[in-house]
Amino acid sequence: MTVIEVIQRSAGFLERKGVDSARLAAELILARVLRLPRLQLYLNFERSLAEPELEQMRELVQRRARREPLQHILGTVSFCGIELEVNKDVLIPRPETEVLAEKAWTLAKEWASGNPVALDFGTGSGCLAIALAARAPQAQLHALDVSPAALAVARRNAVKHLPDGRIVFHESNGFVSLPPALRFDLLVSNPPYIATAEIDTLEPEVKDFDPRLALDGGADGLDFYRRLAAEAPARLAPGGHLLAEFGDGQSPALEALFNAPPWRVVEVLPDFTRRPRHLHAVVAG
Ligand SMILES: C[S@@+](CC[C@H](N)C(=O)[O-])C[C@H]1O[C@@H](n2cnc3c(N)ncnc32)[C@H](O)[C@@H]1O
Repeated sequence: MTVIEVIQRSAGFLERKGVDSARLAAELILARVLRLPRLQLYLNFERSLAEPELEQMRELVQRRARREPLQHILGTVSFCGIELEVNKDVLIPRPETEVLAEKAWTLAKEWASGNPVALDFGTGSGCLAIALAARAPQAQLHALDVSPAALAVARRNAVKHLPDGRIVFHESNGFVSLPPALRFDLLVSNPPYIATAEIDTLEPEVKDFDPRLALDGGADGLDFYRRLAAEAPARLAPGGHLLAEFGDGQSPALEALFNAPPWRVVEVLPDFTRRPRHLHAVVAG
């Protein structure tokens, strides 16, 4: 079978299984099997595949047909132009979270006095901490997660992209296991924010493959924001900043929570579809 035949058959099969962007998925999987950049496939349409290549292609396409995310099959995702390892132990970084990363490094780069100390709360793959460290070299980075398996992925990603030791990782349930004297100028977080009962209504790629721990925000999805509102002031330096992603429709609840002392909402930022998705708040100085 030739490259073009494999692409057409795989795309048709994936489409029948209800997979989004089936042709793109087929091309990306085949490019991975043949170890070629995707566009090179177009210059090799008539090339015949060897039996082991076909065998591997069938296996990976079957995985995608079972709705395993493409990023798990390929093993990587690009976040702010940085190629990160992902697997079942971490949330796949989403494009909208890049807005939060950009806001965080902009704030850190504009820091007037000394080097800002920043914390990524619930780091998962390490995407936010790594993007922030890469774009704001003067920032001192800490990252925490309750999941040791997620931290192992985040550490591997950090070693690959940053000089050793740029990010200090902490295994911690919230702030509990952080060194008591540690204070931050900037706290960035994309916490779990899906209401528990909603999780089973999500696409199979999310509900069956993203870790529950990364999704479940409690009965109304807001548990982690209440926890941050209550506990973060003691961990932030006076005037410290919080940047947090939240779910579609949660903006009014978040603004109410963070417009109460000692907090003040600075702005709510939209995602690429102009929906409010990111909170910027400061704690009283
Ligand atoms: C929505 S994911 C975000 C991951 C990553 N920051 C991103 O933006 O792709 C939330 C992360 O919070 C972590 N988490 C859940 N409960 C936690 C807790 N009690 N303390 C610390 N981290 C927690 C999860 O393990 C998960 O990695």
